[in-house]
Amino acid sequence: MPDAYILGIESSCDETSAAVVRSGEQTISNVVLSQFATHRPYGGVVPELASREHLKAIIPVVKTALAEAGRDYETLDAIAVTRGPGLAGALLVGISFAKALAFATGKPLIAVNHLEGHIHAVLLEERQKGNKQVDFPVLALVVSGGHTHLYLARMQGQGWTYQNIGHTRDDAAGEAFDKVAKLLGLGYPGGPVINGLAEHGDPQAVKFTFAQMKHRDRNEKNAVEGDRATRDRAIFDFSFSGIKTAVLRYVETHGMKAAIAERQKELALIAKPTAEQYLALCDRETLDLIASFQYAVVEDLVSKTLAAAREYDARTLFVTGGVAANTYLRARFERAANEEGTPVYFPSRPLSTDNAAMIAAAAYPKFLAGDFAEPELSAEPALQLR
Ligand code: KG4
Ligand code: ZN
Repeated sequence: MPDAYILGIESSCDETSAAVVRSGEQTISNVVLSQFATHRPYGGVVPELASREHLKAIIPVVKTALAEAGRDYETLDAIAVTRGPGLAGALLVGISFAKALAFATGKPLIAVNHLEGHIHAVLLEERQKGNKQVDFPVLALVVSGGHTHLYLARMQGQGWTYQNIGHTRDDAAGEAFDKVAKLLGLGYPGGPVINGLAEHGDPQAVKFTFAQMKHRDRNEKNAVEGDRATRDRAIFDFSFSGIKTAVLRYVETHGMKAAIAERQKELALIAKPTAEQYLALCDRETLDLIASFQYAVVEDLVSKTLAAAREYDARTLFVTGGVAANTYLRARFERAANEEGTPVYFPSRPLSTDNAAMIAAAAYPKFLAGDFAEPELSAEPALQLR
């Protein structure tokens, strides 16, 4: 099989990214332009601003990715782009650009599900390390700002099939990190900041509990798919909006509001605060609260994922998406999976958060199968993975 060089384009949220990946196993270039500075003053991603930033960035980002890879349009084999899920206006920028490029160059266009991209980020890096053997079924936890989903992945011919066996009923885990950081006056995005501060607090200081889901989600759209035997199995759904409310209640009952307002004011004066500056602005009580929050979220993710792995006889675990960059989460998953004797793989930190290398990698099996996008391709903001 000759090498295939695929240009990937990702614009589903607040990162404009382009990458060249060889045959789903080697990243040649991966350029990621974050819109962090644009959205920071608003405390979260503003969809319309995201679209405009993508529009400004898309040509320079693609040009840089090609230059870094030493390739031009003629020496590409295909163009891959994120079809969804994500912000409609943001997705449309990448899709319009990719369609025009495919049309002008005559190269095939491949549409990729963003969630499948996160899963293939793990595979890409394992292949890059020389690990060609992944045992199926793979249980993949995709844990990001928009998703906390468990997928059972199987190989079918060249392609992968996915079965959703659990999902969050409300907030995603990354969303909980972001909301808690915001309500503690720590700004956006919260995940990396909480990650850095949590190691300075006592994770046992505040006890948070999670509900176990005993009944199936009645929301048809999100319900666990599959045959009857599957539907009769245990439930592995998550819920993260309760812990956010519990943190808020703790803040109110412990008189922390004035200190939070003060911290917010101080941080607004610093363009890019360092870890030391964040730490200097947090008292012991805040650090303990942060550590306890992170501990509770991670324990819930680990225990439900491991229970699902047992129930479905998963042979390999993938943990991926922005929250998979979390240091404590990685350590806990590694320990738990080791105790079970099931290998667990994560992407490197740059490939945990949104990037185009994962899109180009996920496109490779579709390239082999000749699974190309139709000319009517459009954005699908609520696209599901199956
Ligand atoms: O995958 P991603 O880049 O975008 C989505 O598809 O959502 O994930 C972004 C999310 C944000 O909620 C961010 O706060 C969280 O991932 N995140 C982290 C860490 N780094 C990013 N959460 C916890 N610890 C981290 N180190
Ligand atoms: Zn993502």
